[in-house]
Amino acid sequence: MPKIIFQHPDFDEIEIYVPAASHKRTILSLAKEFKVPINFDCQDGECGTCVIHVTDADGNPTKMGVNMTEKEKAVLQEIGKMSRAELERIIVDDLPGEWRLACQMITRDEDIRVTYERMPEDQ
Ligand code: FES
Repeated sequence: MPKIIFQHPDFDEIEIYVPAASHKRTILSLAKEFKVPINFDCQDGECGTCVIHVTDADGNPTKMGVNMTEKEKAVLQEIGKMSRAELERIIVDDLPGEWRLACQMITRDEDIRVTYERMPEDQ
């Protein structure tokens, strides 16, 4: 059962175990279910508000290769989290991307650490 550790610099970590029935769900969907206050807006990979930094549970790059939609790649470039050269490198070498969109990233069978921006208080 993969583990997701949600981390924010100002708050305690929140650790969840993803049950088999929840595989193939987005990180944002799980965060909402477990009351992790990840910032988000469109929930459709358009705005970049839900950007997260993803590593393995120990803070190292994840082991699984890139698995991003074209829309996610475009938004990550637009918001300055990934250059064209970085994108080409991770595609060619099938490397994981350290920046992802929580509304687009699907859980996989790997323990990960997710660093997130917090939702503003008035939402
Ligand atoms: Fe808009 Fe994820 S909430 S890209």
